[in-house]
Amino acid sequence: MKILLVGNTGTIGAAVQQLLMTHGHQVLGASHHSGQYRIDLSDPASIKTVLAAAGQLDAIVCTAGLANFGHLASLHDADFQLGLRNKLMGQINLLRLGQDFLHDHGSVTLTSGVLAQHPMTGSAVISMVNAGLEGFTRAAALELPRGLRINTVSPVFVTETAAIMGMDTGNTLSAADTAKAYLSSVEGAMNGQILDARAYA
Ligand SMILES: NC(=O)c1ccc[n+]([C@@H]2O[C@H](COP(=O)([O-])OP(=O)(O)OC[C@H]3O[C@@H](n4cnc5c(N)ncnc54)[C@H](OP(=O)(O)O)[C@@H]3O)[C@@H](O)[C@H]2O)c1
Repeated sequence: MKILLVGNTGTIGAAVQQLLMTHGHQVLGASHHSGQYRIDLSDPASIKTVLAAAGQLDAIVCTAGLANFGHLASLHDADFQLGLRNKLMGQINLLRLGQDFLHDHGSVTLTSGVLAQHPMTGSAVISMVNAGLEGFTRAAALELPRGLRINTVSPVFVTETAAIMGMDTGNTLSAADTAKAYLSSVEGAMNGQILDARAYA
């Protein structure tokens, strides 16, 4: 399959790219500062430009999306706007704009996170965005034409990320294991599903 992978230079994205390529797929990488294509998820015009350059696709996968941690009392409008414009609407716009570039029965796979179901202190914006993505996924799947599919992978804390942050790596999942959920979404037949990465590791 020919797959556009947004966020391919990131911790999860690099592992997803590696796994997809190992399975024989052609991966076009798009990231913010490097990669084959430069893209700004928060800018619909940038998404359109990359889609036009990439051409017809079998799948779009997104492992990018910014949203800030911050205690509720210290969050500013700008923190909410960043999460809404980047991780939430950026990924939703990938589907809205990208579906016209997908072959029949093509798929879109987005990324939320475990904080949608299991919030922690400081996760208000991220939990909001992740839950929004999951609700959107279930609803959009009901209306997609031409056999198109949408799923969202919900990663738990990634081992490499925890290590970089100097945090306990217990109860984490490696990026390579997290990538397996994305492969299942791309190669499988599921639609409107939220994939708990632990179930595919
Ligand atoms: N890592 C975890 O433990 C974990 C757990 C649960 C959920 N998640 C979610 O998984 C996703 C990926 O996490 P990660 O840890 O792999 O992130 P990461 O290592 O920080 O990588 C982020 C990727 O997104 C790209 N990117 C950043 N800003 C962008 C923009 N405005 N437009 C397009 N691409 C942009 C980066 O490109 P450049 O390198 O070019 O800047 C990079 O390829 C995020 O949505 C995160 O919330 C992560």
